[in-house]
Amino acid sequence: MNQTQKRIYITHKIPKLAINILKEKGYDVVVSKDTGIVSQKKIIDVLKKEEKKGKGFHGLLTLLTDKIDKKVIDAGKSLEVVSNYAIGYDNIDVKALNEKGVIVTNAPGNYTDTIAEHTVAMILALATRIVEADRYVRKGSYKGWDPMLFTGNDLKGKTIGLVGAGRIGEKVTYHLVKGFDVKIVYFDTRSNEHIEKDCGAKRVNTVDELIAQADIVSLHVPLLPSTKHMVNTGFLKKMKKTAYLINTSRGPVVDEKALVSALKKGTIAGAALDVFEFEPKLSSGLTKLNNVVLTPHIASASEHARNEMSRISAQNIIDVFEGRKPIGQIVA
Ligand code: GLV
Repeated sequence: MNQTQKRIYITHKIPKLAINILKEKGYDVVVSKDTGIVSQKKIIDVLKKEEKKGKGFHGLLTLLTDKIDKKVIDAGKSLEVVSNYAIGYDNIDVKALNEKGVIVTNAPGNYTDTIAEHTVAMILALATRIVEADRYVRKGSYKGWDPMLFTGNDLKGKTIGLVGAGRIGEKVTYHLVKGFDVKIVYFDTRSNEHIEKDCGAKRVNTVDELIAQADIVSLHVPLLPSTKHMVNTGFLKKMKKTAYLINTSRGPVVDEKALVSALKKGTIAGAALDVFEFEPKLSSGLTKLNNVVLTPHIASASEHARNEMSRISAQNIIDVFEGRKPIGQIVA
């Protein structure tokens, strides 16, 4: 290894694309053999050990489940960049890292369709009751056609309320309006001219206005102090009794205990969750409910999306090492 060779630590197995791109650049790439959730201690230990040997890592490629804060940066004194293999970056204390001169990046790319498609799949699963019906058939309960069996809802003509109309909310809008002829209302600090012009989406001034109209509320906001528990008992009470809640954003945006209680009492009709407040733990009672659809944080799990995330995460690191502004740079 020559003196200037950059070293990168990847905290978890990821698609090979990133590893190959980084190796082709001549960097020394070390990939953890870990699967599942990797503890912060493990990351700190690895960084410290290499620093001690005088071979500190310059780049760290992390997952959204890695907690990256000042303690990690103090252990990895050579770090120049932390590249998060995700769109969300609430797992990283960006301010603390930036203060130490470390660049933080996320992986925005042309795979928002993937997350939007998963959102639509969750909406359809609730409206058509596919998951419940599948369970019923597997149990051997199907005894013959019945006009009242699993009656669901059509989407046509329904009002979908999007909390957040950034890149993902925008794609959800196009899919739903062009495919299912629904109406879209959205709440966002910024207006989205594309969906207003192309899809007739209407921006509302308050979340309450959105909740009052929406047959389905879908969350597309980042996790911030201002969005944590945005969906709480009060929010759920204001939703229509017949409405569904969809969450493909971040678990803690929803107060999960309040949601379980609302679903039990029939305050709302159903929910589809791809993310959970205490991931991977589920709140007590959630799996007992028939009116929920649960997926294990896989909204961006198409092969295309995961490869794109891999490519962009690698490119972010290369850009920092080569002195360019990376596409995913986040500034505190
Ligand atoms: C997935 O949740 C992501 O933030 O990319």
